[in-house]
Amino acid sequence: LPTTLALLVAGYLSGSWLGALTVCRLAGVRDPRFSGSRNPGFSNVLRLHGKHLALATLVLDAVKGMPVLWLAKGVGLPPWAQGLVGLGVLLGHSYPLWHRFRGGKAVASAFGVLLVLTPWVALCCALCWALLAWRVRTAAIASLASATLAPLLSLWLARDYVLVVLAFALLVLTRHVWNIRRMGSGRENRLGMRQQPSR
Ligand code: G3P
Repeated sequence: LPTTLALLVAGYLSGSWLGALTVCRLAGVRDPRFSGSRNPGFSNVLRLHGKHLALATLVLDAVKGMPVLWLAKGVGLPPWAQGLVGLGVLLGHSYPLWHRFRGGKAVASAFGVLLVLTPWVALCCALCWALLAWRVRTAAIASLASATLAPLLSLWLARDYVLVVLAFALLVLTRHVWNIRRMGSGRENRLGMRQQPSR
């Protein structure tokens, strides 16, 4: 239990580092928390600052939890405990210690965590995300569908991780409440539309 708790804290702290902020700061462009959807994540950076910075954000957010999860696997923690460590990463991204607990929607970080815990589920969800984002041009729809698909796929591909993946999915779904409201009123941002960062 002490190892699980220590790695849970380490996961939370690494998740608290938001890739979008580092990328935008290094590139000298406007902080995505103050423009567009105000989400510090891949989709908002894509609409505000283009594909290169968005891709860098995606990679950083996906890899940030990996070292702690490899450690959790390496020391032989059981699946539920590995899942707790992963949940720590997602909670860090969503409620980051360094940024007054205002973070992102944990989609890219969940992908990175799943890639270590259950790679096939991660890859199928990424494919689902990419296909939907391409067809419907709305990141949130792709994220909501992939988050719903993940626990169902785990039932089939990674039984030991079903509850863990369900917890990840519930977190991601609850982080999209504002997207769902915007969709209801037809005001959801579309991918591919370039937005100007607000002054
Ligand atoms: O990956 C986050 C996505 O699901 C929604 O982001 O910026 O369109 O609200 P955004």
